[in-house]
Amino acid sequence: MTDPLPFRPITPGTQPPLDLPGYRSTQRRFPKQAPHPIPHTITETTGPRFSERLFPASVDLTSNTTGQAAIGERIIVAGRITDEDGRPVPHTMVEIWQANATGRYDHPGDQHDAPLDPNFHGAGRVFTDAEGNYRFLTIRPGAYPWPNHRNAWRPNHIHFSFFGPAFATRLVTQMYFPGDPLLALDPIFNGVPDPAARDRLIAAFDLDVTQPEFALGFRFDVVLRGRAATPMEG
Ligand SMILES: [Fe+2]
Repeated sequence: MTDPLPFRPITPGTQPPLDLPGYRSTQRRFPKQAPHPIPHTITETTGPRFSERLFPASVDLTSNTTGQAAIGERIIVAGRITDEDGRPVPHTMVEIWQANATGRYDHPGDQHDAPLDPNFHGAGRVFTDAEGNYRFLTIRPGAYPWPNHRNAWRPNHIHFSFFGPAFATRLVTQMYFPGDPLLALDPIFNGVPDPAARDRLIAAFDLDVTQPEFALGFRFDVVLRGRAATPMEG
């Protein structure tokens, strides 16, 4: 059977290896045997389609049901999702999760000694419009320590899941901020071998996305699969 939705192979160096010595926890989970390639069939390449009706959007992470505003620097993050041929990916689900302004996740697994914000849960969901554009309002996440090596700190980052048109196009990655001094020290960011591919993980400050008297704006455009693909987590 011919592949109904063929993808170009991923360019070497643009994706992090599964076994990354500097990123300690990969040692516990990377597969020790070569993967078995499974041919894509119509099942993997045509769905699922998540609808906003069943998965309500949550584009403003700075306010919740209490009606109180979250603490921290408000930021707008916007971008466009395209495929490997530059075509927009419309009406696709984008999910985000992140630490609060103090660098703490609202999750039982995070025991970092930094305050939680009762008005910030750090999870959101948006859908792209007909032209592949998405936009959400959040709080700039703080850096946080992690036990990977001595004095290890993650750069400010927002986790993203982009579904695209099918399971085979789903991309999970992290967005970073320009000028962060921790980027040069971060084994996860530096796990992407190709410097140009790494740079695609850093959002651009954008005065057009910035809203006067309200919030700075950052642009994070994403390409799903192919030669210009944004690096994804394995
Ligand atoms: Fe994180």
